[in-house]
Amino acid sequence: MYAAAEAQPNVALIKYWGKRNDALNLPAAGSLSITLDALHTQTTVHFDATLADDDVVVNGKRDPDQARRVGAVLDLLRARAGIATRARVRSTNDFPTSAGLASSASGFAALAAAANGALGLGLDARELSILARRGSGSAARSIFGGYVEMAAGTRDDGEDAFASPLLDASTWPLTVVIAITSHAPKAIGSRAGMRASQRTSRYYGDWIASVPNDLAIARAAIAARDFEQLAAVSEASCLAMHAMMLAAHPAIIYWNGTTLDCIQRIRALQADGVNVFFTVDAGPQVKAVCLPDAAAHVADALREVAGVEDVLLSGLGDGARVLEGRA
Ligand code: PMV
Repeated sequence: MYAAAEAQPNVALIKYWGKRNDALNLPAAGSLSITLDALHTQTTVHFDATLADDDVVVNGKRDPDQARRVGAVLDLLRARAGIATRARVRSTNDFPTSAGLASSASGFAALAAAANGALGLGLDARELSILARRGSGSAARSIFGGYVEMAAGTRDDGEDAFASPLLDASTWPLTVVIAITSHAPKAIGSRAGMRASQRTSRYYGDWIASVPNDLAIARAAIAARDFEQLAAVSEASCLAMHAMMLAAHPAIIYWNGTTLDCIQRIRALQADGVNVFFTVDAGPQVKAVCLPDAAAHVADALREVAGVEDVLLSGLGDGARVLEGRA
């Protein structure tokens, strides 16, 4: 009853920010992302009849809140298997956690894949996407590689809220240059931030209503490999999400000064004809998405921005997979 799995974070180009159902973690709108290949989460799950409780260690640490979220997803898999056996879970990231690099996305995708393997359930990727979603909305997308779209769904039970692959990573390679502007954990998690946005931002309704059109534009841009079109709609989605959060009470501000300096640097590169665009998630890091031949130039430019602590480069990669044990 053991398996090890690996998954990578994804970067949303059309953002997910808001839920239609908190308990089932159902998104209020769809989203679209690219799965990375250079950052990894490895997770082992070992169901063990001698355990009184799940024992969850993430990056060498036990955290009660994290254990509760992991336990809730394991409960869903246990229910499918018809067992109550507790599990030992060990998960490690080779990148900074809780800093807007979507460690929950790769974490819950790897967890779903490993638990499925350990229990021998043989669930398909769509079912794993639904289970990973219960841990973190963006995790539903990290089950798949390359370009991925998440459906909001309309059903109350959430069985139609899952991700699907749009295009392989190798069909249209892009490079993501990540400028780390702070290694500190973020001030407000996505769950609380989404709840506060929905309750208090005067623009929340407009934001949610704007997503389907952005998704249609992004889908068409990807099908046509139209970088300029994808750049424009991705930046618009990111800025609309952050603008809506700025209008919350109290304002939710994930950026620091360096975040904005990186965005301005990317805009200057664009003015010089470089194929690059920016996106920022629930944290201060800036992700510059570019055509592979522009990556070195973009990375050099972001390294020069005062306050940038680190620059990481990643191509696009595969979805979650079992490394050891049953798939
Ligand atoms: O999956 P969560 O609950 O961590 O939320 C992810 C939110 C953003 O990263 C800001 C946007 C997205 O679509 O990934």
